[in-house]
Amino acid sequence: MTVCDYRPGLEGVPATQSSISHVDGQNGILEYRGIRIEELAQKSSFLETAYLLIWGGLPTKQELEAFEHEIQFHRRLKFRIRDMMKCFPESGHPMDALQACAAALGLFYSRRALDDPAYIQAAAVRLLAKIPTMVAAFQLIRKGNDPVQPRDDLGYAANFLYMLNEREPDPLAARIFDICLTLHAEHTINASTFSAMVTASTLTDPYAVVASAVGTLAGPLHGGANEEVIEMLERIGSVENVRPYIEDRIQRKAKIMGFGHRVYKVKDPRAIILQRLAEQLFEKFGRDEYYDIALELEAVVTERLGSKGVYPNVDFYSGLVYRKLGIPTDLFTPIFAIARTAGWLAHWKEQLEANRIFRPTQIYSGPHDQPYVPLAERP
Ligand code: ACO
Repeated sequence: MTVCDYRPGLEGVPATQSSISHVDGQNGILEYRGIRIEELAQKSSFLETAYLLIWGGLPTKQELEAFEHEIQFHRRLKFRIRDMMKCFPESGHPMDALQACAAALGLFYSRRALDDPAYIQAAAVRLLAKIPTMVAAFQLIRKGNDPVQPRDDLGYAANFLYMLNEREPDPLAARIFDICLTLHAEHTINASTFSAMVTASTLTDPYAVVASAVGTLAGPLHGGANEEVIEMLERIGSVENVRPYIEDRIQRKAKIMGFGHRVYKVKDPRAIILQRLAEQLFEKFGRDEYYDIALELEAVVTERLGSKGVYPNVDFYSGLVYRKLGIPTDLFTPIFAIARTAGWLAHWKEQLEANRIFRPTQIYSGPHDQPYVPLAERP
């Protein structure tokens, strides 16, 4: 075995072998199981994509219908989970509520039959089915309303928007939201996926795996950036303020939210699709006042930082889409979690298929042979 150099953040260190997704950052290519993201966004649905990611191939018509039916059947929450949510502070972040509820599922379904394909299937279905219901239920509970029950006649995306906004969504809005979920479903070994894999490698239950990934996604360096993009657009306030804002950030060596990526050195392919989706929504429901500011931001950042490979990432236009769909800003990251649950589950299953517990080494930098000083003698 060769010992590698220490790389903070494991940058560039392969930590797994995976056939789930692939990113070519120089050419702006993202593939799930070898299929380009543009094709999936146009032709697939989120649930079909989730099936592809988790089970490794596109389902037959029959398999897809059975999968969709199972998800629909398991959408409801146990009343105890809903009651648990009612005890949470309304001011708490929805990601914390989601993490707690995902972990709580393990109290109800704790049998760890990880070598039983039926158990794997049932756990994946339950998580995909119940996580959107949890996000919508917490939103209504914190507003002082009773959660809305899922509707069997609505698809995955439409049902989520219905449970959240308490009214049936426009079909275009539902389709666009479904594409957003597809775009966010998987992205190789990012921080939350790695966290899911480490947790999976201990052979704990899948609810703990997803809860651990939700906690990791919650951080502002990972899932939280799309919320900060909207706050930035609010602060800038007008197209004229864009250039001075960017110049000031560059001078202070501060990052501009929604731009730059560790892997992509061109415009993120998901940002290209999300921008088109935002435009479709604006055409039907009216232009967002922040869109002109966003366009000017992209133009100025490209002019000033494009030579460093800094272009819009997935978070730059997703917030504008979600705003137009009537989604509150602090639900952007929980929505990311709804979508990424598909990727986390795919990596959980792949980890179990060739498991070895993650146990890296460290370079010790502390002292040796120190005396134990009794409390009374310490300065
Ligand atoms: N604004 C201004 N300058 C930037 C930005 C940015 N958003 N991103 C990178 N740069 C500059 C850096 O200052 C650096 O310049 P230098 O070489 O003169 O020092 C150069 O581009 C390389 O950037 P790094 O910081 O080395 O790139 P890294 O791969 O470490 O960072 C990251 C990637 C963390 C995403 C960074 O671009 C960033 O903080 N962006 C803003 C936050 C954001 O949008 N996060 C969401 C990422 S996507 C996701 O997680 C779903």
